[in-house]
Amino acid sequence: MITEAINERYTQLSETSCCLSCGGAINHANPQTGEVCVDLGSGRGNDVIRLAEEVGETGHAYGIDISKGMIVKAKANIEKFEVKNATILQAELENLPLENDSVNVVISNCTINHAANKQAVWNEIYRILKTGGRFVVSDIYATSPIADEYRNDPVAVAECWAGAVTKNEYLTMLEKAGFKKIIIYEESAPYEKGSAEVASLTISGYKPEE
Ligand SMILES: C[S@@+](CC[C@H](N)C(=O)[O-])C[C@H]1O[C@@H](n2cnc3c(N)ncnc32)[C@H](O)[C@@H]1O
Repeated sequence: MITEAINERYTQLSETSCCLSCGGAINHANPQTGEVCVDLGSGRGNDVIRLAEEVGETGHAYGIDISKGMIVKAKANIEKFEVKNATILQAELENLPLENDSVNVVISNCTINHAANKQAVWNEIYRILKTGGRFVVSDIYATSPIADEYRNDPVAVAECWAGAVTKNEYLTMLEKAGFKKIIIYEESAPYEKGSAEVASLTISGYKPEE
């Protein structure tokens, strides 16, 4: 149900140019020549194209998204700008179609809050990152737990607020996944969204040596 609501909402939004981001994750990712990068919830593909340009022809950028419309739009944009070192894949965040220890940097902007099993998503990010690899994620958190009546409401989750967890829960998931050196680069003041109060943050962390 939630996946269907997300597909419907974002397929409609794929043909618009409205801003769907909640922070500047890509500005802190610092991709290097030759690196492999992934954007989770890549939308229309703008950040994938920027990552691909920054890593150059010896690197690669993957965009992963669940919504059909976004996949079509992102592939069209990559073709339009003749980007050769980028690939768009349709998949859920909890089951990433990438090899273990294969990625240098994962970014994501305003997406992980939608996932039904966020711990599984963080475990997947950890799995695909190489040792020493990093993530930089912009996302939202709830200033207090989302009421039960909204938490599993597919439309409210698709609207980018009802799936939010508290900041403490967010940080606990990163720690459980195994990430170290957690840095919060940006954090907004709380604001009203739907029937909740949320805030945005941009956060990074590293996959340490075993
Ligand atoms: C708010 S938009 C952000 C798009 C893009 N990152 C940006 O900043 O413009 C969220 C994106 O995440 C995708 N998405 C939401 N839930 C997802 C899931 N469980 N698995 C994969 N993609 C998902 C949506 O289809 C949508 O394209």
